[in-house]
Amino acid sequence: MNKEAVSLLISGGHIIDPSQGIDQVSDLIIAQGKIVQIGGTAISSPSFSVILSKAKNLDATGLVICPGFMDLHCHLREPGFEDKETIATGTEAAAIGGFAVVCCMANTEPPLDNAAAVSWVKRKASKDSLVAVLPVGCITKGRKGEELTDMAELAEAGVVAFSDDGNPVASSQLMRRALEHGRDLGLPIIDHCEDKTLSDNGIMNEGRMSAELGLKGIPAAAEEVMVARDLNLAKLTRARLHIAHVSTKGSVELIRRAKKEGAPVTAEVTPHHLTLTEERIAREPPDKSFDTNAKVNPPLRTKEDIEALVKGLRDGVIDAIATDHAPHTPADKNCGLERAAFGISGFETAFGCLMSLVHQGEISLTQLISKLTCEPAKVIGRNGELGTLRAGSPANITILDANREWVVDSRKFASKGKNTPYDGCRFRGKVMATIVNGRIVYIDDSLPCPTLSLEGRGRG
Ligand code: DOR
Repeated sequence: MNKEAVSLLISGGHIIDPSQGIDQVSDLIIAQGKIVQIGGTAISSPSFSVILSKAKNLDATGLVICPGFMDLHCHLREPGFEDKETIATGTEAAAIGGFAVVCCMANTEPPLDNAAAVSWVKRKASKDSLVAVLPVGCITKGRKGEELTDMAELAEAGVVAFSDDGNPVASSQLMRRALEHGRDLGLPIIDHCEDKTLSDNGIMNEGRMSAELGLKGIPAAAEEVMVARDLNLAKLTRARLHIAHVSTKGSVELIRRAKKEGAPVTAEVTPHHLTLTEERIAREPPDKSFDTNAKVNPPLRTKEDIEALVKGLRDGVIDAIATDHAPHTPADKNCGLERAAFGISGFETAFGCLMSLVHQGEISLTQLISKLTCEPAKVIGRNGELGTLRAGSPANITILDANREWVVDSRKFASKGKNTPYDGCRFRGKVMATIVNGRIVYIDDSLPCPTLSLEGRGRG
């Protein structure tokens, strides 16, 4: 594959860059893998003539140009679970989803609990990945919640945060120490907030519906008691805490209060928790079977929870949207609901389903873009260079058609994980191209760009 970054003039697009408050129709120049300049008369000045004489032109009239999306939370599964996903297939799916930068979670096998494992992922990503991969290191050895990892060694190896994702850190004392070490290293702790004694092998949200269906429930309290504990520990330690996949109204309220009190906390929500309710787990009659593709942890909740999550997004209580892309094999999902793995393959549907919130007037397109770009970059303290179109920063760019309609077909996913509850859904809003460090890693087949030499694979 050609690793050359192209010099590119992206012309006539509607540029939305919340990091700089830019919202205008303009041209954008990239060269040598960096953003050179956004629009204005400067572009037609003689100083740009050398760059422009070599640049290819991408006509983006009618399209939205924004900083490359950044995902704080995904599972690339390699090493150890290559039957579910690899760095190559996962990052191809990320590119199709508009993600230029992804933070991969540490629940691999072996887990990312030592410098050698982290270095291995970085090396593999530098060979196989279409997008930038930033590893998250484990909080505890083996993600067992018993003994802290050598967090300084992991930081040295290049992790951007610490998490035992999939597992909470049950011991409050250990979590306190992890927060203190994270604070001293200048890196956030991302916690998967779940009291496993309360979730107790539940399958779906606990409530009227789980009672009606006779399925074991996971109460909102299983998340909220851990969120409350972690917020207290963040206040105690003054350490940076990031709450993963917030799913309940109660959690939003706890985070809102802690933020008001000045706690150094940030939070993320997934596309599925913003757009699907618990009802999705039961298929319509006459089928009446359950859909294991809607089994996810934390579980899909209620309409009231969604309303609180969307309000939290709007008013800044929830900082970022993260996919929690969790690919699984057909065998992991084509079984009874009790045995099925938790998780949704989310890269390729994220933007399409999130655009329903924009079209319904729940959030603005600019708010959505900020939750996918500069806000996640801030969570890991990389907002100077990532999630922005500032001149001199890496040319990570996502090009969108806000009105293009398309139908989800999981058989066409680049991800090995076909486990999506959105199969067959019609979305309005599509990623048209993704550029990473000046390389076009994905471009929609329909984008008219006769002057481009394409490096990614087109996909309709
Ligand atoms: O549904 C989930 N799947 N939630 C998690 O926290 C972990 C993830 C996975 O690794 O499959």
